[in-house]
Amino acid sequence: MSLSRAENPCFLLFLFVFQAVFILILYRGGPSHVFRGFLDTPQVLDYSKPHDVYTNLSLFTRAPNEEAKPYCSAQSPIFVGPLTITFRVLPSEKMIIRKNPFVQAGGTYRPPHCLPRYRSAILVAYRNQKKYLQHLLYYIHPFLQRQQLSYTIYLIQQVGNGTFNRAKLLNVGVREALKDEDWDCLLLHDVDLVPENDYNLYVCDEYYPKHMASAMDKFQYTLPYKSFFGGVSALTPEHYMKMNGFPNTYWGSGGENDDIATRIQLAGMKIVRTPPHLGRFRVMDYDKRMETQEPWRRPASRHNTRKTWKDDGMNSLEFKLLSRTKHPLYTNITVDIGYVPPFS
Ligand SMILES: *[C@@H]1O[C@H](CO)[C@@H](O)[C@H](O)[C@H]1NC(C)=O
Ligand SMILES: *[C@@H]1O[C@H](CO)[C@@H](O)[C@H](O)[C@H]1NC(C)=O
Ligand SMILES: *[C@@H]1O[C@H](CO)[C@@H](O)[C@H](O)[C@H]1NC(C)=O
Repeated sequence: MSLSRAENPCFLLFLFVFQAVFILILYRGGPSHVFRGFLDTPQVLDYSKPHDVYTNLSLFTRAPNEEAKPYCSAQSPIFVGPLTITFRVLPSEKMIIRKNPFVQAGGTYRPPHCLPRYRSAILVAYRNQKKYLQHLLYYIHPFLQRQQLSYTIYLIQQVGNGTFNRAKLLNVGVREALKDEDWDCLLLHDVDLVPENDYNLYVCDEYYPKHMASAMDKFQYTLPYKSFFGGVSALTPEHYMKMNGFPNTYWGSGGENDDIATRIQLAGMKIVRTPPHLGRFRVMDYDKRMETQEPWRRPASRHNTRKTWKDDGMNSLEFKLLSRTKHPLYTNITVDIGYVPPFS
């Protein structure tokens, strides 16, 4: 009786070897797939060898034929990975403008050399933090250009001396930014944070709100607590509206973040995060006395989010737009956000 194919030892051995090789390929391909091939180049994660954030940016020059511009490459050709960041010298506005010749009035940029695949609005809640702002602009403009994004930077400025309300300012920013353009992604960005790796893409996750600042130096590059959603996050306009935006009723910074994390859940979504080795951020804190630099702690919840989220947010947003001007490096939206409880 002759052996059938499946019982033939040689054939079994062949099958086994074939499978082993296949599994090996999958295994090797697996992790780098997760990071879209980033791990093929180990320098991407070598933070001991950072590069200047302006490295090779001058390679992006105006396409000779505006009509026949190609689409931007899926991965930027000038990525370097870890970036050199220092807050010792304050960059002047003039110098930032000179180093970013393709940024148009209002802090708007379109890649000169290709058609962007992605449009992101960067929204920064702001008040009286000029030095932080200058450091941020010096780094964030070239950072976004490295990623071949089409973007605008919005500064939403609260007037007066009342308690700062980051969440409400961001609601205002979203409403105003969407009047300009149908943005693919809304990046809600603290003024005192700078990303450390240009592979940390400022684009949204298709399905869920994405927390980008998953590893800040001041928290030893870990999350301060599990539901943390502060610093920098990326939501599509659909995500944002689905959760009725952020709460308007949190005064002082910190408390709103837990409410936001809860809203995401209540709206049937979950938080995804940039992996910590890419989601690294530097925090500026050379002047610890600056306001809004209250310590980050998990605040006691003062609101019952489950009850309030459907009535407190984008659908109840009221504010007075005082001015909207185009600074060479950002769009300045100045608002009176109404009743401000006194400092407690
Ligand atoms: C800058 O671009 C040049 C030319 O493409 C390339 O050879 C060089 O490696 C790039 N520099 C860095 C630091 O990536
Ligand atoms: C804000 O505070 C400053 C300094 O404490 C004070 O000089 C100014 O009058 C205040 N402005 C308002 C509108 O209350
Ligand atoms: C934004 O505009 C307001 C009103 O025009 C102005 O007072 C303020 O200085 C501007 N802020 C910045 C940071 O440019």
